[in-house]
Amino acid sequence: MSEWIYIQDIDKYEGQLITIKGWVFNKRRSGKIIFLLVRDGTGIIQSIIVKNEVGDDIFDVADKLTQESSIIVEGVVREDKRAPGGFELGLKHLIPVGKSIDYPISPKEHGIGFLMENRHLWLRSKKQNASLRIRAEVVRSVREFLDNRGYVNLDAPIFTPAACEGTTTLFPVKYFNKVAYLSQSGQLYNEAACMAFGKVYCFGPAFRAEKSKTRRHLTEFWQVEPEMAYFQMEDAIKVTEEMLEYIVRNVLEHRERELKILGRDIKILEKVHPPFPRIRYKEAIERLQKKGIEIKYGDDFGAPDEAALTEEFELPFFVYHFPADVKAFYMKKDGENPDVTLSFDLLAPEGYGEIVGGGQREDDYQLLLKSIKKRNLPVKNFQWYLDLRKYGSIPHSGFGLGIERTVAWIGKIHHVRETIPFPRMLDTIYP
Ligand code: 4AD
Ligand code: MG
Repeated sequence: MSEWIYIQDIDKYEGQLITIKGWVFNKRRSGKIIFLLVRDGTGIIQSIIVKNEVGDDIFDVADKLTQESSIIVEGVVREDKRAPGGFELGLKHLIPVGKSIDYPISPKEHGIGFLMENRHLWLRSKKQNASLRIRAEVVRSVREFLDNRGYVNLDAPIFTPAACEGTTTLFPVKYFNKVAYLSQSGQLYNEAACMAFGKVYCFGPAFRAEKSKTRRHLTEFWQVEPEMAYFQMEDAIKVTEEMLEYIVRNVLEHRERELKILGRDIKILEKVHPPFPRIRYKEAIERLQKKGIEIKYGDDFGAPDEAALTEEFELPFFVYHFPADVKAFYMKKDGENPDVTLSFDLLAPEGYGEIVGGGQREDDYQLLLKSIKKRNLPVKNFQWYLDLRKYGSIPHSGFGLGIERTVAWIGKIHHVRETIPFPRMLDTIYP
């Protein structure tokens, strides 16, 4: 056989005989010609099979191929302006590899329950391929951004002794004769690490027993969490803006084809440059009240509140200075206004809402201890964390960016379940 290539590189092989290894995406016959759509995970190409050219045997094999049968095809790459992707394959040879009988996902519409049950196969479809390739690009650019700026990647443990983001969403697991919890966030460990390394990040799964059935909640999601010694809230906000700009720019540059497959209007993405607008929590509440939404100072935002706020901004925007009660125990109080904390969220426009949560951490031993006690958290599990305020405490800040929510907004994907290969949700743990 000739050289095995991937469809994404087809434009480099015009006029050459090449081999593609893949699966039957679709097939159509018109008399003595078969139009066979072959996919290989990197793209889809139309192969033209002409009976008089390939002979009866190959033509008959091709004629019997069913959706998702695996095949190896060999042919000559031809430019064709009408073909999707601009190229087609003049088929010379074909080897069937594995049969596919009664493939359950046909090109017609299916209900979401059915597709979720068949997630292991649904991954092969065009849109799922596009959103997960965008995800991979988001992950790649996040790492590249941080690695290039001197952040050290130190991942946090998944088994943890205590809550980071509130005790109501913990997943307990039996840990020999003790109880451990799946990590909600690597932040607390990051704080220790930044005092040892300066600028660090962890990247990994986070687990939350979220009982909410919304389009933006998973029970297992991925988070990138940078943490920086000697950074104040303002400095962390700047890193957040620059990182998001970098991610969006890379997706535009490397995943334009996928954005098109998803039908994404990229005009909004092209405008994503800092500085992003900022409003205080207090002003956000007032804006919502003006819209007739029932909310008062001290309430946390629900998804509909955030969606309403996003109507007012074209760019991602920050909400900052949340009151202590709506945020986690570690948030530092503002010196000038102790009613609010040095916390911020970054909200994506177009109805998406929060994609980043972050802030400056309480660095005073006594204030932190008070906050831990006020929330009835077990002090002994946090003794190591308190230690960080005992041995050379410093101002420090960080944030967590949720990968799935970021991908959902960038690709304008309605539900986060399509931004992760195998989503875990309240009712979903299969496949
Ligand atoms: O705002 P959160 O809870 O912040 C933290 O976990 C901090 N410890 C981060 C830090 O400062 N190091 O979560 C951060 C982000 C959210 O903005 C959101 O994008 C995502 O994680 N996230 C979820 N994504 C999907 N499903 C869920 N259930 C999520 N919960 C949070
Ligand atoms: Mg948050």
